[in-house]
Amino acid sequence: MLKKLTLSAAMTLALGTTGALAAGGAGHVEDFSFSFEGPFGTYDQFQLQRGLQVFTEVCAGCHGLQYVPLRTLGDPGGPGLPEDQVRAYAEQNFEVWDPELEGGEGDFRAAKPTDNFPAVTSAGAPDLSMMAKARAGFHGPYGLGINQFFQGMGGAEYIASLLTGYTGEEKEEAGTILYENKAFPGGWISMAPPLYGDDVEYEDGASTELEAISQDVAAFLMWTAEPKLMARQEAGFVAVLFLTVLTVLLYLTNKRIWAPVKKGAKGQPAE
Ligand code: HEC
Repeated sequence: MLKKLTLSAAMTLALGTTGALAAGGAGHVEDFSFSFEGPFGTYDQFQLQRGLQVFTEVCAGCHGLQYVPLRTLGDPGGPGLPEDQVRAYAEQNFEVWDPELEGGEGDFRAAKPTDNFPAVTSAGAPDLSMMAKARAGFHGPYGLGINQFFQGMGGAEYIASLLTGYTGEEKEEAGTILYENKAFPGGWISMAPPLYGDDVEYEDGASTELEAISQDVAAFLMWTAEPKLMARQEAGFVAVLFLTVLTVLLYLTNKRIWAPVKKGAKGQPAE
């Protein structure tokens, strides 16, 4: 029996490691440390705002975020922009097609907070709304489940690694230029390096080095994929607290209920 158990434990371990290698072996993912990792991690509101700026000024030309409503930029737990700034941001940066305009003919108008970020298909680039979760298989450097729990989903790490992973090598294949990238599975990606460092100017004076802005935009994309992370963790924490209190109460109740019987067992008759 024990032998069998040991054997299956060893096999699980072996299988677990090969799985991890298969996931991590495709590309090199750096273990960046993000504020939202771990059971009590929270988004850094200012980092999300900086990431939004990088996305808007650099990535939005090619990538859409079509599943993200613009109004959520004002949500607590997210970038937390004040309402008037959300409205101004939507108006200044995006145009949407409104089929009701021009008497039903349709026309473009400035985006409103009630619209979503637009979809962008012209560059053949994937939508980034859920990318941080779609790539969560890359659990930091060693992809064991426990790592995922303590060190984050991995998707944000993958995106930051992708943005910092260009080697500078290029090649042409069937008319497409491919760029060598250490994080991208297969090693060659058709996205030209979007960031070099100092691509944006931050108002809060935070670092604009390549690693810093890559992590900012990765954090922002983690938020678009998992906007309720903090609420979920809070609910989990409250549940654990509640169960702890309940355990103590039940323990005390149990003691009290059985106290007379216990007394009886010690030699003195219960009555
Ligand atoms: C010039 C257009 C362009 C810009 C600007 C651009 N991208 Fe891309 N991106 C692409 C294309 C094209 C692909 C598809 C690449 C492929 O699959 O080979 C891509 C793919 C990606 C992927 C998916 C990689 C994967 O694992 O499939 C991520 C993540 C990404 N881009 C993030 C960003 C971020 C973040 C920015 C802004 C800092 C950005 N991109 C700016 C064109 C662009």
